[in-house]
Amino acid sequence: MISTETPLAPLVFQPLDPATPGRPLSAIQEEILRLKRERNAVLLAHNYQVDEIQQIADYVGDSLGLSYKAAETQADVIVFCGVHFMAETAKIVNPSKTVLLPEMDAGCSLSDSCPAEKLAAYKAANPGLYVVAYINCSASVKALCDVICTSGNAMKIVSRVPADREILFVPDQNLGQWVAKKTGRRMRLWPGSCYAHVLYSVRNIEAVKVLYPGAPVVAHPECVEAVRDMADVVCSTEKMIAYCRENQADTFIIVTETGMINRLRREVPGKRFVAGPTDHCGCNDCRFMKMNTIEKVRDSLAGMTPQVELPEAILRDARAPIQRMLDWSR
Ligand code: 13P
Ligand code: SF4
Repeated sequence: MISTETPLAPLVFQPLDPATPGRPLSAIQEEILRLKRERNAVLLAHNYQVDEIQQIADYVGDSLGLSYKAAETQADVIVFCGVHFMAETAKIVNPSKTVLLPEMDAGCSLSDSCPAEKLAAYKAANPGLYVVAYINCSASVKALCDVICTSGNAMKIVSRVPADREILFVPDQNLGQWVAKKTGRRMRLWPGSCYAHVLYSVRNIEAVKVLYPGAPVVAHPECVEAVRDMADVVCSTEKMIAYCRENQADTFIIVTETGMINRLRREVPGKRFVAGPTDHCGCNDCRFMKMNTIEKVRDSLAGMTPQVELPEAILRDARAPIQRMLDWSR
């Protein structure tokens, strides 16, 4: 909500590194590439990872693209540079592989907002609901759901749910509200949110629009409705690349985690990307995503630890709703 009392903080735009093509690799990056070859490992990185990691990843993408890559890989080891629920998803879709997560404490506020016991109790008290879970949830929660979705396919998935079933959407109320509005499908919404995306406010986006008149606002659906309503496009991180490439504008205001700008600068050269500011800074780093560092990636591959392990029953029960998503969104 817009406060009329607090004065507007001065906007300071974080100077990010310029685009990286051609920049020589550091010794530690070279070491990771050597270890990767020795271990027959694949390095998958989310769009929010630091540039040094993105630069040497085999694939950089959104949750949906990363799930497909994890399912398809022939490598023996998956080094997952993202957060815990993403690495768990990689293990679920490819359980015979070793999955390394450089920082085991890299969690997610959305995932934390929906503990499996609470969801199980809610389902028991409200039988018959069709549970659609945003992929940002734990493996134990996935095991309780009917189908998974990501921000890249949520509308497609929700549209496929049988019309006579009432939907419970967990755990992101903002993404759920956006999908409900777009599809016209009424849904019960779990009251979770991403701590980073709800920091964007109408006031701050208005202020940055004044500085860059005409620049399209590109926002992630985890933002609150008032911010989404100001955006020229609301989409997953992967779709942001295509939008900025195809749009004629030369400057874009990017309202999602700051790491996204690394990839945009590499893959859409010649255009300017301005990080959407919050009250706290002219950027918005997810504290969980940024727990992975290049040193931790090296240590993880060198020591083959920490590894993601899941109980057999969770692996089995969580696989079906993820597989349904992969099938429905092809
Ligand atoms: P994407 O699937 O759009 O990459 O989003 C993942 C995420 O965690 C957003 O905060
Ligand atoms: Fe979770 Fe938000 Fe971080 Fe994405 S940005 S991983 S939703 S806390």
